[in-house]
Amino acid sequence: MGQPTPARNFPTDGNWWRSAVIYQVYVRSFADGDGDGTGDLAGVRARLPHLAGLGVDALWFSPWYPSPMKDGGYDVADYRAVDRAFGTLAEAEKLIAEASELGIRTIVDIVPNHVSDQHPWFRAALAAGPGSPERELFHFRPGRGARGELPPNDWPSQFAGSTAPVWTRLPDGDWYLHLFTPEQPDLNWAHPAVRQEHEDILRFWFERGVAGVRIDSAALLAKDPDLPDLATHSGPHPFVDRDELHDIYRSWRAVADAYDGVFVGEVWLPDAERFARYLRPGELHTAFNFAFLSCPWDAGRLRAAIDTTLAEHAPVGAPATWVLCNHDVTRTVTRYGREDTAFDFATKAFGTPTDLELGTRRARAAALLSLALPGSVYLYQGEELGLPEAEIPVERIQDPMHFRSQGADPGRDGCRVPLPWTAGEPYAGFGSREEPWLPQPAGWASYAADRQQRDPSSMLALYRAAVAARPVFGDGPLTWLPAPDGVLAFSRADGARCVVNLAPTPVDLPAHSEPLLTSGPLDDAGRLPQDTAAWLRA
Ligand code: NOJ
Repeated sequence: MGQPTPARNFPTDGNWWRSAVIYQVYVRSFADGDGDGTGDLAGVRARLPHLAGLGVDALWFSPWYPSPMKDGGYDVADYRAVDRAFGTLAEAEKLIAEASELGIRTIVDIVPNHVSDQHPWFRAALAAGPGSPERELFHFRPGRGARGELPPNDWPSQFAGSTAPVWTRLPDGDWYLHLFTPEQPDLNWAHPAVRQEHEDILRFWFERGVAGVRIDSAALLAKDPDLPDLATHSGPHPFVDRDELHDIYRSWRAVADAYDGVFVGEVWLPDAERFARYLRPGELHTAFNFAFLSCPWDAGRLRAAIDTTLAEHAPVGAPATWVLCNHDVTRTVTRYGREDTAFDFATKAFGTPTDLELGTRRARAAALLSLALPGSVYLYQGEELGLPEAEIPVERIQDPMHFRSQGADPGRDGCRVPLPWTAGEPYAGFGSREEPWLPQPAGWASYAADRQQRDPSSMLALYRAAVAARPVFGDGPLTWLPAPDGVLAFSRADGARCVVNLAPTPVDLPAHSEPLLTSGPLDDAGRLPQDTAAWLRA
């Protein structure tokens, strides 16, 4: 192991995360530095100028650890190393340092709910047999039924739409719990060694100069020790959002505070009050705003989602986050181009009709909306290029979500297609000598970054301009302004305004306001057309 990377060379700004623009890198699909068909850290390092040019404050890397890739790296075999396909730990340290020189912080992704079945702890548990202390680190149980042939309880899979079981039986008769795939056994968070290990892992990455940690499946770690059936159980949910989690995160916070590190939790919870509990002082700094991500393109619904978000964060003093997509959900331009513009895992289907022109217009407006709101903003790689969701040929699908739904769910590969960088090169400049791990659809090169770089009307140009201009909103609160039905209009404390027209009728921009940036052209009368947003200096 090399020497830890020296501490970040940023000016002291302990509050950077309250208003940051954070870019998610899914390494496998970002850029291929060694040409083998899989993205890697060399590819990211070579493309750092693109990220600096975009103006982002931080990069969140989906898991880069050694993994059998049964769930795209969310099946971690070693939390203190880098998968050989992506590079080495020394290279990760270089990347963290190089990004930091460009003023970009690094956030790593920790997966605490489960490990890979190839993790040494699980292998030891398998070898040690029923009743062993090694098995206490997981949830092993005898089965039910006369011969133990039935799973220990009725819990449903956490892959939406999946009917696949969450228990797998071993030849020695024991069953083990895995809320996701059988290759992702759940850890037993009531065991002190599990807590100790994860706090050490946090320190390991903070020591290497990372500024933050994204916590995967953050509301699922704690389980009711009795593992009761869900159907007949009353009282707190046996594995979602249990109160014990808060103690775990308070300990994590103490670790992070020693390094000025920050957390962003993946907390999917419908209850706003329960969600906000994770953001109380001394717990997580931020959590992803899935209510906003799932919200349909509808002025009333968006305004309600924004109001609820701000109201739920205010009492705990945490900043909101604004997220339109990530590596698990339908890409924004596609979602907004469909009849149903909400995101819901349950309604994903093959062959949904999509108007990409409409979706792109709305996605451009949504970009200006989210970048004008108070809090931090997450961008998912390719969002700045306006990439659509790809339909992956069934025989090339790799995502377990597809297989665990018996093929009904198209899975999440459609938003994980290797990025197009250079229009004239093989595989749109992704860097591979051979076909990349997921196929790029026809026409992918038309989205290439080099083309968009030269086109002032491109999605990339819009994102670059918006990220650069965003400081005009300052860090003050949001005030809604009077506006016709279907129009969202607000100002921020220092006077900059954002107007988004979702209604069919064009709207006049407020008098005496200077348009700073628009997501599309104004009409001949200088009005803001449907599905268009404007930023205005008062
Ligand atoms: C959430 C991650 O974002 C997703 O990709 C993964 O499949 C599950 N957690 C399980 O780790």
